[in-house]
Amino acid sequence: MTFKDRYGPWALIAGASEGIGAAFARELSARGLGVVLVARRQGPLASLAAELAGPSRVVVADLSASSGTEKVFAEMADLEIGLVVANAALSPIGPFTTADPGALQQAMDLNCRAPVVLARHLLPGMVQRKRGGLIVMSSLAGQQGSPGIAVYAGTKAFDGVFAESLWAEMRPHGVDVLACVAGAVATPGLERNSKGRAPGTVTPDVVVSAALKALGRKPRVVPGAVSSFSAVLMSRLLPRGTAIRIIERASRGVLD
Ligand SMILES: NC(=O)c1ccc[n+]([C@@H]2O[C@H](COP(=O)([O-])OP(=O)(O)OC[C@H]3O[C@@H](n4cnc5c(N)ncnc54)[C@H](OP(=O)(O)O)[C@@H]3O)[C@@H](O)[C@H]2O)c1
Repeated sequence: MTFKDRYGPWALIAGASEGIGAAFARELSARGLGVVLVARRQGPLASLAAELAGPSRVVVADLSASSGTEKVFAEMADLEIGLVVANAALSPIGPFTTADPGALQQAMDLNCRAPVVLARHLLPGMVQRKRGGLIVMSSLAGQQGSPGIAVYAGTKAFDGVFAESLWAEMRPHGVDVLACVAGAVATPGLERNSKGRAPGTVTPDVVVSAALKALGRKPRVVPGAVSSFSAVLMSRLLPRGTAIRIIERASRGVLD
């Protein structure tokens, strides 16, 4: 089976207007899939769609709201979606007790509710067709406590465990699910949220290529050699308290 036979004819990319989502869109389009590009800003989505040689559809929607996910389902109802990339995320930064409660709620809705709703809506069709895939973007921040980004880290732990659970549930049905657990990736989102470049920062293309290579082969991938090493060190080798304190110290230089 070709990639297109297995995961086509259309892919839906949540959070496609920039960064890792835009890189997924470019690569999936180059592999012959039509791409449904979802985010809040029409301008960058339209520019990306114009750049792609293959078919695309732009859906402007706020995925943190249920009206947004409903709008996406309505606007792609005529398309057969064979691959979903649950990538859109929000990362509120700063002390938990002074954080804007609305931003924390939005992060939980966008980072957790939206992937669940997208998966629940689109996986049954894939199960019926006995083919397809779901990639959920998680983060090394979700591997241990990450002070200063507590809610983001918690949502990314959810994303990783959610995807691994579905990996096992979907396998007998021929549907591939992957948790893509990224370390630092050079994206506009990272630029906005950090002061400096963390060691081992990779490009969005490295993430996309690692994810598409791992899809169907394993439940989770950590793109980049430095991030892979760090994942093993932090989650398997070091005591929890030590790992959390290391993250706390490291993020002092990187987070605003
Ligand atoms: N960059 C990193 O270092 C890094 C590390 C680990 C994991 N990750 C994960 O990788 C994924 C992508 O990260 P990124 O750095 O590429 O992010 P980014 O540059 O901040 O881009 C986020 C994308 O999501 C869209 N988005 C944001 N809020 C949305 C909403 N409410 N509804 C719909 N779309 C929304 C944004 O477009 P609009 O603004 O147009 O809506 C944008 O296209 C995230 O899941 C993140 O947790 C990133």
